[in-house]
Amino acid sequence: MIIAIDGYSSTGKSTFAKLIAARLGLIYLDSGAIYRTVTLFALQSGYITGNVIDNEALKQDIDSGKMKISYSMDNPEGRAEICLNGVNVESRIRLLDVSDNVSPIATIPFVRNFVDSLLRGYGPQGVVMDGRDIGTAVFPEADLKIFMVADAKIRAQRRVDQLVAKGEKADFDEIYRNVLERDYIDSHREMNPLRQAEDAVVLDNSYVSVEQQMIWIGWVLKAKLDIDF
Ligand code: DC
Repeated sequence: MIIAIDGYSSTGKSTFAKLIAARLGLIYLDSGAIYRTVTLFALQSGYITGNVIDNEALKQDIDSGKMKISYSMDNPEGRAEICLNGVNVESRIRLLDVSDNVSPIATIPFVRNFVDSLLRGYGPQGVVMDGRDIGTAVFPEADLKIFMVADAKIRAQRRVDQLVAKGEKADFDEIYRNVLERDYIDSHREMNPLRQAEDAVVLDNSYVSVEQQMIWIGWVLKAKLDIDF
């Protein structure tokens, strides 16, 4: 079974997807984390200067296998955490330097092809995957597609709260600008932009708690796939 959860940034896709995966015994995969890890690699390699990305150097490193992405299970909850060349970068990729540069990296076709083939490899195991184009491009045949939306200011505040909880600095205005900018880039890029699949079910969780979302998904799974949740 493949459940695709797409939507705007900071709509709570990963929280929602993780809970569904745990309840259904499926793997959870965060496709955005892979784009973030590619971005971190490009930053650390000096391939991003202002708005300019050295596409050729990045492509060479991806093609030659110099950039290795893997998963570690070395955490108390047994969650899969993403590693770049053997180093766990699950927290590092959430910092603002990566957030600021990830959308342009995610517009590059060879990056998208690399990430898509990595993601498709997990399909046969049964997966709940979140991202921007999972239901439209990565798994257009997914059993269930959810499209998540929420008010942009509420999303910015959620991101501030997450950073503060981790002891990071967080400026609301800067983060709000980042949210709007990422929405624009994500939905206007040429290759596989963020858009709602025709057969997706929309969830606006601006004013909806996680508990209420779990009740909602129970109804959707029953109605669409006859699954008791
Ligand atoms: O979900 P996130 O904010 O961690 O995603 C980071 C970026 O990755 C986001 O700005 C767009 C990109 N992305 C994408 O283009 N396609 C996906 N399937 C997932 C993420």
